Amino acid sequence: MEVKTISSEWETIHQRRGWGRYPSETVIRFVARNFYQMDRENVKILDFGCGQGAHTWYLSREGFDTYAFDGSQSAVDKAVQFLENEGLRAHLDVMDGANISYQDDYFDAVIDSACIGHNMIKDIKRMYSEIYRILKKEGKLFTTFFSTKTTGFGTGECLEHNTYKSVEAGPLQGVGVVHFWDKNEFSEIVKGAGFKNIEIENSIYTNNGNYIDSYVLTATKL
Ligand SMILES: C[S@@+](CC[C@H](N)C(=O)[O-])C[C@H]1O[C@@H](n2cnc3c(N)ncnc32)[C@H](O)[C@@H]1O
Repeated sequence: MEVKTISSEWETIHQRRGWGRYPSETVIRFVARNFYQMDRENVKILDFGCGQGAHTWYLSREGFDTYAFDGSQSAVDKAVQFLENEGLRAHLDVMDGANISYQDDYFDAVIDSACIGHNMIKDIKRMYSEIYRILKKEGKLFTTFFSTKTTGFGTGECLEHNTYKSVEAGPLQGVGVVHFWDKNEFSEIVKGAGFKNIEIENSIYTNNGNYIDSYVLTATKL
């Protein structure tokens, strides 16, 4: 049976507007620290939930063997066009995050820039287990999350503990399902998938009057 976990709002968003053209500083720092010194064309990196391809563009431009997928057809169409316009190449697919078809022990790194947190807990657990499966030994995970202190938490329809739909305020308004994290819960889930060497960095900032408590977690498959 086909698994479909992505919120329907994403297809509408990607059809109607642009979404993120430039990579985040945290992704650049992670890639630079871990992979800039390597033989880049032999380093396989997956952009998990790539949206319209901001990080796919960056990875390809930096010479990595770049893979990317998103559950929204419009997002992937726009990412393909974006790379084509710049003469860049990547392996792009439409896929659901809970049903990825990559082979075992394949990637040197998987980058989740704000995709996985837009899902229900059971699917989030499945996604981290699947990422563990497709990473090579010594392969690295980069993933991000927003905590329960972020503006908008507690608004909209509560679907399960700390997971909301139709959030009514803040940076996560209008994007379907959102899981707001407790730092320890997050680390336990990633550990439960098998990851080791878990490191968490936190930045707290305000934007448009919203309070944003944002985390980056990196981990390794040993
Ligand atoms: C906040 S956007 C981030 C996009 C991109 N990573 C970036 O940094 O610009 C979240 C993306 O995850 C995708 N997404 C969310 N849940 C998904 C799922 N279950 N399967 C596949 N894609 C999903 C959405 O379509 C959307 O493009």
